Amino acid sequence: METVTTDVLIVGAGPAGLTAAALLAKYGVRALTVSRYSGTANSPRAHITNQGAMEVFRDLGIDDRVRAAAVPNEYMGNNVWATSFAGTAIARLKSWGSGTLRHADYEVSSPTEMCNIPQHILEPILLQAAREFGAEIRFSTEAVSLTDTGDHVDAIVRERTTGAEYRVRAKYVIGADGGRSTVAQQMEFPLRGEMGLGAAMNIWLEADLSQYTAHRPGTLYWMAQPRNDYWVGSGTWICVKPWTEWVLLCMYNPEDGEPDTSEQAVIERARTTIGDDSIDIRIKAVSKWQINHVIADTFSKGRVFLAGDAAHRHPPANGLGTNTSVQDSFNLAWKLAMVLRGDAEPALLDTYTQERQPVGEQVVDRAMESVRNMLPISQALGFEPGQSAEDGWKMLDELFSGTERGAQRRRELDSAVALQNYQFNAHGVELGQRYSSTCIVDDGTDYPESVRDDELYYQPTTHPGARLPHAWVEQGRRRVSTIDITGHGALTLIIGENGDRWRAAAARVADEFGVELDVRAVGVGCEYHDVLREWTHQREVGDDGALLVRPDHHVAWRSMAMVDDPASALRTALNTVLGRQ
Ligand code: FDA
Repeated sequence: METVTTDVLIVGAGPAGLTAAALLAKYGVRALTVSRYSGTANSPRAHITNQGAMEVFRDLGIDDRVRAAAVPNEYMGNNVWATSFAGTAIARLKSWGSGTLRHADYEVSSPTEMCNIPQHILEPILLQAAREFGAEIRFSTEAVSLTDTGDHVDAIVRERTTGAEYRVRAKYVIGADGGRSTVAQQMEFPLRGEMGLGAAMNIWLEADLSQYTAHRPGTLYWMAQPRNDYWVGSGTWICVKPWTEWVLLCMYNPEDGEPDTSEQAVIERARTTIGDDSIDIRIKAVSKWQINHVIADTFSKGRVFLAGDAAHRHPPANGLGTNTSVQDSFNLAWKLAMVLRGDAEPALLDTYTQERQPVGEQVVDRAMESVRNMLPISQALGFEPGQSAEDGWKMLDELFSGTERGAQRRRELDSAVALQNYQFNAHGVELGQRYSSTCIVDDGTDYPESVRDDELYYQPTTHPGARLPHAWVEQGRRRVSTIDITGHGALTLIIGENGDRWRAAAARVADEFGVELDVRAVGVGCEYHDVLREWTHQREVGDDGALLVRPDHHVAWRSMAMVDDPASALRTALNTVLGRQ
């Protein structure tokens, strides 16, 4: 059997696999990506793209391309609940940081903006970038078996067009092969949770709804009608292209039988929730998928790693599917690159599961909780199983009535809608991921106490393990973010106005270790001039302190002030960060 050798085999070319392929290629790592399907995603699927993922795309230098192809943040502003597009507007929530009160939280936290880019539009951008960086990606090629010998991994892959099989021998494998991961199954990764908690039908269609949406632009329009309210409503319209292309997502209970997917039946569903028979509807595709609540107990086993849905499966609530998958790869790729280059010891790879498994667990639990939290909306609307349509509409009339009961129910509805902030404005969940692992040097201090709700609000800190805070600084006449001057596959030492001794020490230690260690002076009057004092107010260390930032923008180590022997301090830090101790 023919054997192809590579350093990293990536199984899967969805958001996780393509991000890993692009990053590894950019870092100069030899990698081969195989994907079962003949190309990238053929339907919209996940679409919410948060600042965390956008920062990864910015690191790759493709955030402009993503933004240009995406529905922009200003069109994501409304979460609409209504009986139909033409019907009664029930409630609205300013979402994804677009509300006046939340917008600043998002804007000050990142150089990027959230956007809505459906998967079938995002993936070709990732693919093109990966190939530009030199990645090799083979479609219609599936992994059928894997063996980890301890020294390398042998994977048997099959070309689906010819049936021909060959062996790929790799030093490491990333299983980014989605919710039915062959890699997870073959390597017997321990998966915990439940599959099939709910079922959904995605109806991808064209319908010009401009007259019902342009005045309340949004990503999600939730339709609620009596007798048709299983789980989260009668159907959720997801904007694919404003305001003419949509996915109508309908949850259903498989115990009641499978839904009719015929064109006539799905058009009828769409018509009912539009509420205007004059709108032309063209169905593009119908697909079914299921809600899972599953997490792998470990994301690595020997030389094999799981990333994306292979490691965590959860409902689309909070829009974390693509984002978490992209961030898994951002965490893993630099570690693989450093170990393969000999810059770091293989022990560094253990930190992937130490850092990303707890994030995965938080994400699946948050998403599941958000789905459950939608029930109070149905309850506040007064829709109940077994109720006649007439009684349901009466309940809605009462909700809008001037009666005491109406007022009481409106208060309940307001609370139920406010609860949705944990799904649609959960900035802390989106950006506040903090790591604790053997490559993070704990400096003995506590994280600053949260001043606001951790899930709703991101709180910047330079505590080791946290994401580097974003601040705009000036390099000459150019505005750059602290996020921009770190990353790109290298370790970075950020020093302040009084940090010259750190610079000299960094040069010496980088030379000793044979690693790239970029030094950036950020502060008032420095090379990166903190003219706005945004950095000074966030850095927590003194003007003679230092921060060691990893290629994935997380702080690995910090010194609050200058020390007697900065080279020795940096040496100790790098030994830990690179798994050399
Ligand atoms: P993803 O599933 O995207 O990619 C898996 C890749 O692995 C594919 O390239 C496939 O070809 C490949 N592969 C699989 N087995 C292989 C093998 N044995 N050998 C080689 N390659 C193999 N999420 C959300 O937030 N909102 C939504 O509305 C939806 N809707 C939705 C609809 C449908 C139909 C699906 C399937 C999924 C969703 N999702 C979703 C989930 C979302 O798409 C998901 O979270 C991300 O795509 C995860 O990205 P990954 O890269 O991990 O896997």
